[in-house]
Amino acid sequence: MRKFVVLGATGKTGRLVTRELARGKHRVTAVVRSRENCLTECLKEDVVLVDQVEGTVLGMESEGEVEGLVKDCDAVLICLGHTLTMAGVFGAPRRLVRDTVKRVAKALGSSGARGKKKKIILMNSNGVRNKLLVENYPWHERMLLGLLYFALPPHADNVEASEYLTMEVAKEHPEIEWVCVRPGDLLDGEEHSNYGVSPSPAEKHGGPVLGSAKTSRYQVAHFMASLATNDKLWDEWKGKTPAIYNEGEETEG
Ligand SMILES: NC(=O)c1ccc[n+]([C@@H]2O[C@H](COP(=O)([O-])OP(=O)(O)OC[C@H]3O[C@@H](n4cnc5c(N)ncnc54)[C@H](OP(=O)(O)O)[C@@H]3O)[C@@H](O)[C@H]2O)c1
Repeated sequence: MRKFVVLGATGKTGRLVTRELARGKHRVTAVVRSRENCLTECLKEDVVLVDQVEGTVLGMESEGEVEGLVKDCDAVLICLGHTLTMAGVFGAPRRLVRDTVKRVAKALGSSGARGKKKKIILMNSNGVRNKLLVENYPWHERMLLGLLYFALPPHADNVEASEYLTMEVAKEHPEIEWVCVRPGDLLDGEEHSNYGVSPSPAEKHGGPVLGSAKTSRYQVAHFMASLATNDKLWDEWKGKTPAIYNEGEETEG
């Protein structure tokens, strides 16, 4: 049995990640803003393996509190997203995801568990380019993404969270390993089908804003939970920003 921390566990994807891990008989600490939500209902009989901690990482008063949260866990899985209201999109915290990732990385870096890998798995977006790779998004998509960066704080937040992992975390915390998962437009639904994963989004989808790439939240949850629990899969994707799409819309590797 492994131990995981899930942030954004009450979200549409986060609750599926939590359930997937609990179904694999792993222990999960789910950090929730309020227990008054449908996470318990979603978990059903798997609820016994899930410890719900009320609060937020950014709201924790001391670094020690964050360290205490993550110190014994095998990985921290982050499915945070801004609430789609004016306050959620334009209000504080404007860099919810980036600042949470940074605080978690710092806490993992300081936590004493020697010899244990310190893993972060972040749910991000195919609207975020990995600047270290050659990713040829169409020019009009690049312009749109540039505009969105300035107009839409949640997009800038995702961009900066990804850039922190791809370009900065290794300098500050070399012991941390990470994967930044990039789904397309998210779909709901429970049915299990295959999905494709590749290092970059495929050009055939025509770009993340106007393109056709779709990913079920269920598939994102399955992939994130598999990364957390399958060491071979982890070794394949660690330090990468995989794009994930439903079967039939696989990316070109
Ligand atoms: N929509 C798309 O098509 C799409 C595509 C690709 C990637 N993404 C990205 O995927 C991520 C997750 O998507 P989702 O649809 O699963 O998200 P979601 O259902 O909106 O869940 C968001 C989670 O973040 C929590 N949260 C929101 N504001 C918070 C705050 N200020 N402090 C702490 N926690 C906060 C929510 O808690 P509460 O339950 O308490 O509100 C919830 O647990 C997002 O980052 C999004 O950008 C979305």
